Amino acid sequence: MVESKKTGVIGWPISHSRSPLIHGYWLKTYNIPGSYEAIALAPEKAELFFKDFAKGDYIGANITIPHKVAVIPHLDVMEEAAKAIGAVNTIWVEDGKLHGTNTDWLGFLGNLDAGCAGWDKTAKTALVLGAGGAARGIIYALIQRGFQQIHVANRTIARAQEMQTHFGSAVLPHALEDADKLVGECDLIVNTTSLGMEKNPPLTLSLETIRPHCLVTDIVYTPLETPLLRRAKDKGVKTVDGLGMLLHQAAPGFERWFGVYPTVDDELRQLILKDMGQAQ
Ligand code: ATR
Repeated sequence: MVESKKTGVIGWPISHSRSPLIHGYWLKTYNIPGSYEAIALAPEKAELFFKDFAKGDYIGANITIPHKVAVIPHLDVMEEAAKAIGAVNTIWVEDGKLHGTNTDWLGFLGNLDAGCAGWDKTAKTALVLGAGGAARGIIYALIQRGFQQIHVANRTIARAQEMQTHFGSAVLPHALEDADKLVGECDLIVNTTSLGMEKNPPLTLSLETIRPHCLVTDIVYTPLETPLLRRAKDKGVKTVDGLGMLLHQAAPGFERWFGVYPTVDDELRQLILKDMGQAQ
């Protein structure tokens, strides 16, 4: 009998997760005998679950809210990126040991590389709006790509200052209301706040002084074209939407568990958009 590897995404709640659709698509595409389930794990059960994970049936999993930090004490091995970002979204069992990493930063970079090839060639200065968990992965990614100045503007300035303490002097903290003044010196603008998401107010960033080569991207992908991206397009600058980050962050985990680095193709993108009711 062919061995069927079990994986899944662990979170609470978990029914909204699109990861089963993504990995299910790849399992079918590559004809791999495996499974990827949505695993609902209540916070009070997390400790026991992760403690015994390596002895159980699963060969690995994605970790999502609220377990991305809670899983850390149960890891035997934690990769550098996860240490730097302070959160784990991918785990696997190797020789009976539980390993963990973070692929969100790779998802961010993979999405920009696919959507705007060469975007980082001469880019040196970025404006990151927001200083939450998502911003951490993105700041890490930008440092890896050699960005020298990363302006981080956040409603709560103390959280932007924490990013500087954590990542060093390339990070320059600001209050969110001061972000307009920084637009004109940036090569890349990234929204990592929840502003612009369906039912939320839009981000009010003035693009008056935006440079013609500046790339604008948003981690919000519901709607796919956020008000920020629409305004950037109206200004004639390049934009990359946030859906690709979700798809690209999934690929390294799939490779780790099943041995194939999967392609993020348009059929997969359409499948997710259809699920979101936004097929194009
Ligand atoms: P995530 O892990 O998705 O980044 P998070 O850690 O809750 O989630 O961070 C959400 C980000 O959106 C934060 O930067 C937050 O600003 P604060 O640190 O001041 O809370 C930002 N955010 C959320 N709602 C906002 C709003 N109404 N106005 C401005 N910023 C907002």
